[in-house]
Amino acid sequence: ANADAKTVVVTAAHMIDVLAGKRVDNPQVTIVDGRITAVGRKGDAVPTGAERVDLGERTLLPGLIDMHVHLTSDPTLSGYRQLEFTDNFWTVVGVANARKTLDAGFTTVRNVGSANYDDVALKQGIERGYVPGPRIVPATYALGATGGHCDATEFPPSIQVPHPQIANTPDEFRGAVRTIRKYGAEVVKVCMTGGVLSKTDAVGAQQISLAEIKAIVEEAHMLGMKVAVHAHGAEGINDALRAGVDTIEHASLADAESFKLAKASGAWFDLDIYDDDYILAEGAKNGVFPESLEKERQVGLKQRQTFRAAHAAGVKMLFGTDGGVYPNGNNALQFAKMVEWGMTPLEAIQAATSSAAIALARTADVGAIQAGRFGDLVAVDGDPLADVRQLEHPAFVMKGGAVVVSK
Ligand code: ARG
Repeated sequence: ANADAKTVVVTAAHMIDVLAGKRVDNPQVTIVDGRITAVGRKGDAVPTGAERVDLGERTLLPGLIDMHVHLTSDPTLSGYRQLEFTDNFWTVVGVANARKTLDAGFTTVRNVGSANYDDVALKQGIERGYVPGPRIVPATYALGATGGHCDATEFPPSIQVPHPQIANTPDEFRGAVRTIRKYGAEVVKVCMTGGVLSKTDAVGAQQISLAEIKAIVEEAHMLGMKVAVHAHGAEGINDALRAGVDTIEHASLADAESFKLAKASGAWFDLDIYDDDYILAEGAKNGVFPESLEKERQVGLKQRQTFRAAHAAGVKMLFGTDGGVYPNGNNALQFAKMVEWGMTPLEAIQAATSSAAIALARTADVGAIQAGRFGDLVAVDGDPLADVRQLEHPAFVMKGGAVVVSK
């Protein structure tokens, strides 16, 4: 390290080693210029001039990763309420939500869909230090079919909402992948079936053909990008898996065939199983379309049952919450749901750390407290392996060796 290197040494009573899958005592983590250089025990040598951070009785964990958020969305402005705001208003919403998300211990997020390339703007603003926020893997515009979940279907023909990435043939989808990459997308999000919050489609219905999703996957992988697929219905999920997609989002109506295909291809499932509670409790008041509330009643419980079944079947699972469907910053509320529906606390934590890093192809940077990766850390008061709800209120958050929260 050069003479001006900033060195921070963090100590605590315990640490969750997500790679070894166990809790260890008296960790000492050394971070130089933002990256971890050593993970040892209290009492190990400390570089001279290092800043010390002792977290006392607390338990350290890697910074958390949410694989499915929309930082530029606000659930209290749902349905037609969104029309009261100018286009760039949503970027401002994103600035506020980026801070809330980071303060909640989420040091990395995959932003799977936003308009106007505002997730790229947010990422650039955070990286340049203008505003605080997590590391962002942006998808920019979600790709979708005309009239599908990612198209705007709640308006008459005389009102056109521009969405440059709506496509209807394999070649158009190839072009869409190239275009979003050109403007900063690092992952491709595709709306493969209907959805809940869209007004007019059937939640389970497939909207993109096998030929189209194959073209998207081929193009995305050629360009070094993963493909994240919004899919509730089994036919759409299964065609997406046959095409070789990387992650299935929602997966509400996945069946035994889906589990088999996912295990064979190595694809991950990413089920936002907290959202049902929020939508049913707050949706009507927030302006969610009545059609959407009806669709939520169709899939909410089923999705949780699918979560349990997929996990039991051995499908690889990630932590993805669809932040923006509930208020961003409350991401950690999903941990308790994952434990309620079949995971151990350790598995739920790994879904949000080590596994997420693998799914992002970012194991060199995030997802574990390990030499080489960024100094992204969270600490909680109690033992998160005994009570995963400890993650709902982190006492300490560090990103790249810089303290963000310290209570
Ligand atoms: N964005 C998703 C959709 O509109 C949200 C689904 C929320 N519901 C749930 N049970 N996870 O389809």
